[in-house]
Amino acid sequence: MPTFFVPLIRPEDLPTGAITPVSTEGRTLLIANVDGQYYAFPPECPHEGADLSRGRLDGAAIRCPNHQYLFGFPDGNLIESDDDACPPLTMFQLEEHDGTISLRVDL
Ligand code: FES
Repeated sequence: MPTFFVPLIRPEDLPTGAITPVSTEGRTLLIANVDGQYYAFPPECPHEGADLSRGRLDGAAIRCPNHQYLFGFPDGNLIESDDDACPPLTMFQLEEHDGTISLRVDL
């Protein structure tokens, strides 16, 4: 199975505790740095679409700015909510490749 790496950001450009948007292949992803672990996910909350770039990191999880639901890393699972039917946050696979945090794509 071929694997491709799409470079997104250099580690030194994303300090611990930060979330930043990156654009690649015509879409925007958010990248979070939690103590040197990098996580990528879409900017839209899976609950009602709030902008997660305005959310805040809470340990290894992101809290939505709208209804305060908490989605955990690395799986995007719902940790806190008042709606058990809310789907998890989609997570993308990242890997450090050639000194860059990159999206890993397995075809
Ligand atoms: S829109 Fe994110 S928790 Fe409701």
